[in-house]
Amino acid sequence: MSVLIKNGRIITAVDDYMADIFIAEESITTIGNSLDMVADQIIDASNKYVIPGGIDPHTHLDMPFGGTVSADNFETGTRAAAHGGTTTLIDFAIQAKGTSTLKALDIWHAKAEGKTAIDYGFHMIVTDLDDNRVHEMKMLADEGVTSYKLFMAYPGVLYVDDGTIYRAMRKAGEDGTVVCMHAENGIVIDEIVKKALSEGKTEPKYHGLTRPTRMEAEGVHRAISIAEVANVPVYIVHLSCSDALEQVILARNRGVHAFAETCPQYLFLDNSYYDKEGFEGAKYVMTPALREKWNQDELWKGLRFGHIQSIATDHCPFCFKDQKVLGIDDFSKIPNGGPGVENRMSLVYNGGVNSGRISLNKFVELTSTAAAKTFGLFPKKGTIAVGSDADIVIFDPNRKETISINNACTHHMNVDYNAYEGFEVKGFTETVLSRGKVIIDDCDYIGKKGDGHYLKRGLYGGMK
Ligand code: URP
Ligand code: ZN
Ligand code: ZN
Repeated sequence: MSVLIKNGRIITAVDDYMADIFIAEESITTIGNSLDMVADQIIDASNKYVIPGGIDPHTHLDMPFGGTVSADNFETGTRAAAHGGTTTLIDFAIQAKGTSTLKALDIWHAKAEGKTAIDYGFHMIVTDLDDNRVHEMKMLADEGVTSYKLFMAYPGVLYVDDGTIYRAMRKAGEDGTVVCMHAENGIVIDEIVKKALSEGKTEPKYHGLTRPTRMEAEGVHRAISIAEVANVPVYIVHLSCSDALEQVILARNRGVHAFAETCPQYLFLDNSYYDKEGFEGAKYVMTPALREKWNQDELWKGLRFGHIQSIATDHCPFCFKDQKVLGIDDFSKIPNGGPGVENRMSLVYNGGVNSGRISLNKFVELTSTAAAKTFGLFPKKGTIAVGSDADIVIFDPNRKETISINNACTHHMNVDYNAYEGFEVKGFTETVLSRGKVIIDDCDYIGKKGDGHYLKRGLYGGMK
């Protein structure tokens, strides 16, 4: 199968030019002016941007959490991602305490294999790592799991202590891999939560009020300090606020390999969403919590000046009606997480490029290239170049959509609400190719379950 994309404006993290692209056998073989080549399929991309498929390095599909399981599985979640212009996900396998991380990887392979619309990889969530198990990290790396997530939050569930963090970081540093950190002081937060509940404060808004930004900043500071001593690159996930960003900037300024991602929810939503009527605020119960609005400008500045390298979604959806409701009498029992994998590209384009906050090249870097580099996928993924996988999005910068669960073009996620309901965006994914095969054609999914492949990722590629 060969494809010729004609007349598009090709945008990568560094380039911006008009050219045609010829694709054969899943990868880009030729880029040039007025290509006159015979192809099985010709796509006219006049007046459109031709960009690398999005990479979302932070999703939780089919994840057991908070007494339930996230509502999107590997079939529905990857299909929704494809609709939104994302062609690679990195999800998380979870080590059950006291068991092998390799066994966890097998379990997650079984959840995903043969089901996905797009390519995917795994990070490993490490929940315990005594000295006898540390060697497994290299075995994981050999299987293409070259990054690990550790949690300073959720005591009794995913939380690990500082000793475990240091052991994992030291080994990751030796192996050339990277550690992702959920950086929040979960021990102190749990005390604040207990006090709130004892005072009868049970509504969703107390989720936000019991998670001070200073406790995120403390986690970020501690994570980076341990990483500095262990000599490993550290990637702070879902950074939500100015206090935490300040810690990343301080560390980077002293030369530490500290990196961060933020997410659309922290750029476009704020803590006023917890004041919605009745139990509606539960839709926005996620961790870290939504912050005061002024933090958004600081995060955009962090993105613009390169202190935050990626925008992921932390897509972890739970249905309002039968999952979020688990916490109707106690905010601490509301499953933590929200949807977003489908809407990321349009939200960031509209809120970033259209608003003059970031350039087009920066848009590509934040939504694709940086994640490919950090997580060992570049240049196979994350750019448009000869030899790269033909994961390509034809993006219409002028198309307007209103994001809504009722809009058949903006909501394919398996969840009964959209966190960005009513948001108007200009800039929308029109056509998506995954390794050269068209899988989205103007809101229609025309791929098939199992098109996506597991990605054995390389070692830390460096956003040095
Ligand atoms: O609330 C969130 N973020 N849920 C998913 C798990 C995590 O902490 O990333
Ligand atoms: Zn997290
Ligand atoms: Zn997460």
